[in-house]
Amino acid sequence: MTATTTTAAAASANSPKGTALVTGASSGIGAVYADRLARRGFDLILVARNRERLEALAAKLVRETGRKIEVLPADLMSRKDLAPVEAALRTRSDITMLVNNAGVGAAAPLLASDVDKMEEMIALNVSVLTRLTYAAVPGFVERGAGTLVNIASIVAISPETLNGVYGGSKAFVLALSQSLQHELKDKGVRVQAVLPGATATEFWGIAGVPMEHLPKEIVMTAQDMVDAALAGLDQGEQVTVPALPDLAEWEAFDTARRAMSGRLSSTAPAARYRVGADSAASLA
Ligand SMILES: NC(=O)c1ccc[n+]([C@@H]2O[C@H](COP(=O)([O-])OP(=O)(O)OC[C@H]3O[C@@H](n4cnc5c(N)ncnc54)[C@H](OP(=O)(O)O)[C@@H]3O)[C@@H](O)[C@H]2O)c1
Repeated sequence: MTATTTTAAAASANSPKGTALVTGASSGIGAVYADRLARRGFDLILVARNRERLEALAAKLVRETGRKIEVLPADLMSRKDLAPVEAALRTRSDITMLVNNAGVGAAAPLLASDVDKMEEMIALNVSVLTRLTYAAVPGFVERGAGTLVNIASIVAISPETLNGVYGGSKAFVLALSQSLQHELKDKGVRVQAVLPGATATEFWGIAGVPMEHLPKEIVMTAQDMVDAALAGLDQGEQVTVPALPDLAEWEAFDTARRAMSGRLSSTAPAARYRVGADSAASLA
């Protein structure tokens, strides 16, 4: 794998905003993040398998924004390709943002799905995202600055909606993000989990559901989704659900979870589970 730097005569000196590394930047949500972040003044490192698409996007963004854009073609499922991406995140202090976006989905019911495909999905959505997080975050902490954006999904909190392994992989992304938010709260590092609903990208075709089969009223454009997610980031949100009309609903859900967390561990089982023990004692 080689890293190509796309430069143009107009390309400016390093950005004061630093460099954002976006995975899955060759299409859909990742390509829109690349566009929006370049327009916000970030230099970029674009990662995905499709080199031609990455180079076309890089050339367009260099032309339109004058930013410095590198393409790092990589199959993130291959350790050989993943290693240079991890190395860049570990060693380059100009990287101020990681958008962990590369991912795949599935729509088939659990038991109708091929377990090898499910394992591959877990590898990309969970293991790769975790490795890239581990590569980037220590540097952010050391420098007291940095932004991690993890693209989860609404299925993280609605696992009945699509394939359950996909939902489980995105629940992992949400839980990991929340745990990091807790651990890093005084370290100057921002962590945002984004929970898109159905978004008009190639994701659906790859997941086995043609976009045209979805009710139009539940599908957002990738542009609107990313603009909303970035607005949420600007507002300091830790979890952004672009389509949810009333933020109070998420807050009530999250508050209930946090309130319960202090009561989830105890020396004694809850009274409702002592029924068997009581009757066993009375029989003795
Ligand atoms: N679309 C939705 O409705 C929706 C809803 C909620 C969450 N999401 C999440 O949003 C994220 C982006 O998906 P999208 O909707 O934008 O779909 P997409 O257009 O299919 O984009 C997926 C991106 O991931 C890259 N990718 C896939 N496998 C890869 C691999 N092995 N190595 C490197 N890159 C790889 C693809 O590029 P290459 O093929 O060039 O490698 C592509 O750039 C995913 O995490 C998805 O789960 C999507």
